[in-house]
Amino acid sequence: MATGLVNEEVLKRVKGWAPYVDAKLGFRNHWYPVAFGSDIPEGEPLQAKLCGEPLLINRVDGVLYCIKDRCLHRGVPLSTKLDCKTKNTITCWYHAWTYRWDDGSLCDIITNPSSALIGRQRLKTYPVQEAKGCVFVFLGDGDPPPLAHDTPPGFLDDDMVIRGKNRIINSNWRLGVENGFDPTHIYIHKDSILVEGNDLALPLGFAPAGRPEDSYRIIDTDAEGGRRGVYDLLGEASVPVFEGYVEGQMVREGHFGETRVANDISIWLPGVLKVNPWPNPGLNQFEWYVPREENSHYYFQTIGKRCANDEETAGFNRDFDAKWLPMALEGFNDDDVWAREAMVDFYADDWGWVKEMLFEPDMAIVAWRKLASQHNRGLQTLAHVKA
Ligand code: FES
Ligand SMILES: [Fe+2]
Repeated sequence: MATGLVNEEVLKRVKGWAPYVDAKLGFRNHWYPVAFGSDIPEGEPLQAKLCGEPLLINRVDGVLYCIKDRCLHRGVPLSTKLDCKTKNTITCWYHAWTYRWDDGSLCDIITNPSSALIGRQRLKTYPVQEAKGCVFVFLGDGDPPPLAHDTPPGFLDDDMVIRGKNRIINSNWRLGVENGFDPTHIYIHKDSILVEGNDLALPLGFAPAGRPEDSYRIIDTDAEGGRRGVYDLLGEASVPVFEGYVEGQMVREGHFGETRVANDISIWLPGVLKVNPWPNPGLNQFEWYVPREENSHYYFQTIGKRCANDEETAGFNRDFDAKWLPMALEGFNDDDVWAREAMVDFYADDWGWVKEMLFEPDMAIVAWRKLASQHNRGLQTLAHVKA
C-alpha cells in the first residue's frame, strides 16, 4: 500500500483511510478539469500539471490534444520555448525532435532526418474531453470511464450552463477538499461580502441534530450513476447555530438573512464539491480541488444554472460577471483559500493526520476519507510521475 511518499509510522496509525494519507499526488484513472476551453485557442498550447505529471494541451482544427510536456531525448519541457512548425506537430526547442499532437509519435528529427528513432517512439498522450466549457484530462491507463462518473450529479445535464474561474492554490489538494466539505468551517465566512450582499441565512456553523453518523449519507453503490461520494445533510440532519456563547455571553455573528442556501453539500471522487443551492436559490456551485503536485492544487470553481433558452443564459452570464464571480467565487471563496494555506504546515510531514483532534461534525470528513480510500481507481505515485 505504501509508496514511500509518506511516513510509514503514520500509515500504521491511521485506521481505515491509510490510502487517502498516501494520496499526496491524488488518485489515478480519474478525469480532472485543468482549464477552461477558452484558455486554449486554436494553435496556442497551454501548459498544465496534473498529479505531478507535466502536460501540454493544444487545439488543432477545434479538437483538443494532450501530450506529456517532457521531451523523450533529454527530458526538457517542450513548453520552455514553444516551436510548432506545422499545426499538427510540436518541435522540441533543444535538438528539434518533432512530435505529432494526435498520437505523440516522433515523426521527424530536424537535426538528424535519417535517425532510426523516427516513427518508432512516442510521447505519452492523455485523453481529453471538453464539456460545459471545461477541459477534462484523464490521468491514467487504459480506457477511461464515462466523464459522468467523475462529475457531480447535474453538472453535465443538457440545460446546465456553467461559468467559472481557475486558480492555483499553494496547498495539497486534500486540504482543499476538507475545507470545502467541512460543515463548521463556515465560521470563517461570517464577514464575507456575499453574506450581506446576498442577504444569506448563514449560521456560524452546523451541529449534527442527532448522532453524528446520521448527518451524512455515503454513496458507495451505483445509486447515483456510477459516482462515489458523501452527502452532508445540512438541511435535514443538522441544527444551524446562529448564536453561540463564550463564558455565558452570547455571541451573535451569523447573518439572519432571507436567502436560504446550502441545503445539501456533497463531495465526490476524485475531489469535487457540489453545493446545492449556492450562492443563490436556483444556482449550484461545483468546485474541484485538482492535484497539481504535492504542494499545490487547481481550485477549479464553477457555478451552474439551468437555463431553458438563450435569454436565460444571457441573464445568467450577466449575473455571473457582475455578482457571482466577484462576490462568491472571489469574495466568499477567498476566505477558503487562506484557510487551506493555514493548514499546510500542520499536515506537511503527515503527522497532522495523527495529531489532529476531530470533533463531532468532522465525522462527515472522515466518511469522505474512508470512501476515497476504498473507491479511488488507483494511487498516483512518484513512480508514475517519473515514468
Ligand atoms: S531535449 Fe528535446 S530534442 Fe533534445
Ligand atoms: Fe468555504
